[in-house]
Amino acid sequence: MKDFYDQLAPFYHLIYEDWKAAIAWQAEYLKNIIQTEWGAPAKSVLDVSCGIGTQSLGLAERGFQVTASDLSPGAVARAQKEAESRNLRISFSVCDMRQLYSHHGGGFDVIISAGNSIPHLLSDSEILLALKEMFACLRPGGGCILTIRQYDQEARGKGILKPFGVREECDRRYVIFQVWDFEGEQYAFSMYFIEEDKRSGAIETHVMRSRYYAISPDHLLELMEQAGFDEVKRLDDDLSYPATLVGTKKNN
Ligand SMILES: C[S@@+](CC[C@H](N)C(=O)[O-])C[C@H]1O[C@@H](n2cnc3c(N)ncnc32)[C@H](O)[C@@H]1O
Repeated sequence: MKDFYDQLAPFYHLIYEDWKAAIAWQAEYLKNIIQTEWGAPAKSVLDVSCGIGTQSLGLAERGFQVTASDLSPGAVARAQKEAESRNLRISFSVCDMRQLYSHHGGGFDVIISAGNSIPHLLSDSEILLALKEMFACLRPGGGCILTIRQYDQEARGKGILKPFGVREECDRRYVIFQVWDFEGEQYAFSMYFIEEDKRSGAIETHVMRSRYYAISPDHLLELMEQAGFDEVKRLDDDLSYPATLVGTKKNN
């Protein structure tokens, strides 16, 4: 899994039709949730699966004090470069979200794990472990936001094609898609980037493989409750958004 994201880091922005626009809309979406759920004083954010920075960069641009970590050193290195090129101060490090508290300590206002990261943990017990670590890192009264694919809407099966689109960058064209193979509630997937040099016509195919647990949003809400969160709820009511789950660490 770490290797998957290390290999993916240089291409990751291409998954989005417009990564810069995604950084902006996701930050506005998250900021709005933070202010509605936990009030304007919430300032410190711990992003526990920052990847190349899709959520961290936009939140830092909007004045949040962002601490960000991820399991993939390649993704973290790219996120760091992206922050430097935007003159943003974000504290980055490599950390497994199942070991957050010993690495980051406590006291954060908000914890996020966005962009379908949690389902890389392949069982309820692994997810519960990570959720308990997030809970420990929060200050009382703080909250957690998780975004995942709407797996309650996804068909199961083998050889399922998921097109991401065609992107043009410099002299290159990329055709991007995934193929999913379900085994029970988990699926193995291959991510393909077919890269064409438009001047020479040379083609190179990059393929990376990983695995997800297609946990339903309702079941993830149950696990959040088991981890100690209060007022757990699902906020998205629109298929164009990821499933967005929040929970609060009650004031003592
Ligand atoms: C689909 S990417 C999302 C990245 C970023 N949040 C975004 O939306 O662009 C999933 C991320 O989860 C990270 N990840 C997976 N398992 C992890 C773990 N156990 N601890 C920390 N990060 C993890 C991966 O390295 C990857 O960067």
